Amino acid sequence: MRIKFLILGLIFSLFSLTAQRTSKSIDEESKVPKYNLPKLLKSDSGIKIQNQIEWELIRRPEILEHFASQIYGKIPRTLPSPEVRILEEATLAIEDKAIRKQIQLAFKNEADSICMNILIYTPNKKLMAPVFLGYNFAGNYLLHHDPFILIDGKKENEFNGDSSEKIKIKKRGKRTSMWAIEKIIQSGYGLVTLNYNDVDPDKNDFSDGIHSLLFNSNQIKAKDDQWGSISAWAWGMSRVMDYLETDTLINEKKVILFGHSRLGKTSLWAGALDQRFSIVISNNSGCGGAALSRRRFGEKLSDITKNWPHWFAKNFQKYSDNESSLPVDQHMLIALIAPRPVYVASASEDSWADPQGEFISARQASKVYELYGRNGIELYDYPKVNTPIHESIGYHLLDGKHDVTIYDWTQYIKFANMHLN
Ligand code: GCU
Repeated sequence: MRIKFLILGLIFSLFSLTAQRTSKSIDEESKVPKYNLPKLLKSDSGIKIQNQIEWELIRRPEILEHFASQIYGKIPRTLPSPEVRILEEATLAIEDKAIRKQIQLAFKNEADSICMNILIYTPNKKLMAPVFLGYNFAGNYLLHHDPFILIDGKKENEFNGDSSEKIKIKKRGKRTSMWAIEKIIQSGYGLVTLNYNDVDPDKNDFSDGIHSLLFNSNQIKAKDDQWGSISAWAWGMSRVMDYLETDTLINEKKVILFGHSRLGKTSLWAGALDQRFSIVISNNSGCGGAALSRRRFGEKLSDITKNWPHWFAKNFQKYSDNESSLPVDQHMLIALIAPRPVYVASASEDSWADPQGEFISARQASKVYELYGRNGIELYDYPKVNTPIHESIGYHLLDGKHDVTIYDWTQYIKFANMHLN
């Protein structure tokens, strides 16, 4: 009798636990307000877009213009080609499996200069390798224990040895878990990476980085429709691409753009602006990235424009708590990448980035892929964790938190194998 009660009790508590979880997720989703997305396939003046040509001639340019002037900001002009300096090269790196090359792109004008320090690994004995290209957050030397990775473009023996430099040396390889370098190389791909702060330091100050080089004389801040940092970082990705086109180690037709979080927002915008990237991946990019702004779930425009105003054009502030007046939403950013394969990845514990909003956004972009005869993900429901979808639009929901893991890299490599050949 006692056992019977115990079993009944157990069943009851299991049931209420499940019910709690389910009702929690229903509750959370019920926080999403009713919203109408702007139409992908209807122009601002009401023309119905029916094919690729109409998309490319009418709708794509107007959507691109909205993102440039209202969200990320226009890039004012360009600069003369940089000086390319080869800093270091070795044919036997990472247990002889890789070629390592470190280069510097130096951009200058009369007043100022910036240096982009780029680390390249490609599989050994291979020319024309397909590569993943992505910014890292704090320095190339954090990505791997390889002692020859330069720190801010310098060899260890070129340092004065002050304490901040010693700390940096100690931190070598501290971020290996976010970068599956060995796996990438073994799978026949290379990796090209640089610190995003080389292009524009991530702070609310436009007096440094690439912004200051591209302002007109006497200009100290961006106009309302001019570039914030995401546009500056996107500009940087295109300059790296210019270099990759000249390097025989790399197959410039197979450059896969990758970015996590704020850099996932950047990879989507860079991929929309520059059609030379053959695949675009955004990992946990959230608000201002893959997630729909109108869902107001997790991070809202009012949060992001308050906490990170320098990422966007000043115009973007107008839409804080006023999302319905935006002429676009983020599904349109994903659609700008069509017909090239695009991958949106979310994480189940990353509600700040609104995983479901990222999925719906990717699904909504399918209509444009279909104009090109490619399979989008229109017919898919929000998938369970760790159940990837690899159509021309890829999506997975990692079982875990806001991060880049070996699971994510495994999916990206599979996706690239499927779509690059
Ligand atoms: C913050 C920000 C996010 C961003 C993230 C990151 O959490 O609110 O929008 O994606 O930082 O880049 O790490």
